[in-house]
Amino acid sequence: MKFLIIGDVVGEPGRKILFKYLEKRKQNYDFIVVNGENSAGGFGITAKIADQIFSRGADVITLGNHSWDKKEIYTYINDEKRMVRPINYVKEAPGRGYTIIEKKDRKIAVINAQAKIFMPPIACPFLALDEIVPEILKETNIIILDFHGEATSEKLAMGWNLNGKVSLVYGTHTHVQTADERILSGGTAYITDVGMTGGHDGVLGMNRKESLQKFKDGMPSRYSVCEENIKINGLEVEINENTGKAESIKRINIHYDEV
Ligand code: FE2
Repeated sequence: MKFLIIGDVVGEPGRKILFKYLEKRKQNYDFIVVNGENSAGGFGITAKIADQIFSRGADVITLGNHSWDKKEIYTYINDEKRMVRPINYVKEAPGRGYTIIEKKDRKIAVINAQAKIFMPPIACPFLALDEIVPEILKETNIIILDFHGEATSEKLAMGWNLNGKVSLVYGTHTHVQTADERILSGGTAYITDVGMTGGHDGVLGMNRKESLQKFKDGMPSRYSVCEENIKINGLEVEINENTGKAESIKRINIHYDEV
């Protein structure tokens, strides 16, 4: 099965290129996962935007530390099986940390987890994954993890932690695509970060003047999204539908005009 993974969609520019890409190319893929935690103006996601992303072809939306920025998602996520927030939030948090979706006669599990290093305090993602992956393996061997985190070391450690147990471990959150995509020894595809879908001539998808000003004066400020040099970042991953092992992993980094 061919999977399309889309890195953090930032605001309207990110949605614009995502929808253009999906309109032209979604038929090339069997399953599509989009990180949507920054899709509403850079902070969170709304029900309307989630519905748009699903209606254009996404099978699952993953989130991260900005999951809860738009309060309406508290109820939406409870009812929407195709949306996942980090599994290592407290049990009382709305929504779910993984989902299993049936497509093309296969069950596909998508897990979202949040890292600990340089991130808001949260329960240990390693313990959470060690607990849940054996349970999911009873149902399917096609398992992918969006590991939302800052530190390269923590993400790579998670890749090795799940090597041979899941099909794909990919990082999100830094908004900078890394060039370390590979298939680990046990057949688990891995990349430290898939990158960001939105304006690339800002700072992590936000307006560069506003960001720079904040670094200089340290004052609270409002951020707007960057609208220049819009690119889509992601991955194409082939996963053997019988074994659950990855067969190939390829980065996507395409400018709006070339979609
Ligand atoms: Fe994030």
